[in-house]
Amino acid sequence: MNENYKTAQESFWAGEFGDAYADRNQGQHWVAANLAFFSKVLTRTSDIGSIIEFGANIGLNLMALKQLLPKAKLSAIEINQKAVDGLNSLGYVSVHPQSILDFVPSQPHDLTLIKGVLIHINPDMLPQVYELLYQSSARYICVAEYYNPSPVTIPYRGESDRLFKRDFAGEMLDRYGDLKLLDYGFSYHRDNNFPQDDLTWFLLEKTRT
Ligand SMILES: C[S@@+](CC[C@H](N)C(=O)[O-])C[C@H]1O[C@@H](n2cnc3c(N)ncnc32)[C@H](O)[C@@H]1O
Repeated sequence: MNENYKTAQESFWAGEFGDAYADRNQGQHWVAANLAFFSKVLTRTSDIGSIIEFGANIGLNLMALKQLLPKAKLSAIEINQKAVDGLNSLGYVSVHPQSILDFVPSQPHDLTLIKGVLIHINPDMLPQVYELLYQSSARYICVAEYYNPSPVTIPYRGESDRLFKRDFAGEMLDRYGDLKLLDYGFSYHRDNNFPQDDLTWFLLEKTRT
């Protein structure tokens, strides 16, 4: 394990596996699918002027959000240097090139987004990441992950302890009494026009700031 990191999962994403992921997951079809995805997720929101994405990779979500909310300030946290290079090349994203587990929130953002990332975090660290998501948000939190009613670990590309499913959003709702469920939905890999990963998304709203 890379000694800069606290968990094996961070070293995994910072290293060769993460490099190959960033090379493999590129293309306008992903941005199109993300446009369809976020136009649904954002339906119940208003006045979003700033967004921070935790684990943004090369920015396929942020590219779509830039089109949907052109005036919003976009920020990203990303551990993999190749992905960070991609984010920097966009020219409109403020990038924190570090692990989420080392991130210190400064100012809150109207929307905090995490998509396909909590499933790869060491489960012992989830309370810390929930707190960071909560503290980084002035109003909305979007959690889009693999759902399972109870925590499970499943093999990921031949590796064990690299993919975890659970009710991440439900755990946040239990933990923070002022969070309310605003909306939720499912994206399907067999969608006829805009296939995504099989993600269940939850939009939470802070009712106390
Ligand atoms: C499966 S990808 C999802 C990328 C993006 N959110 C999306 O929806 O396309 C997981 C991303 O999270 C990043 N990541 C994983 N663990 C991280 C950590 N501890 N800190 C920061 N980034 C992390 C990986 O490098 C990768 O870019």
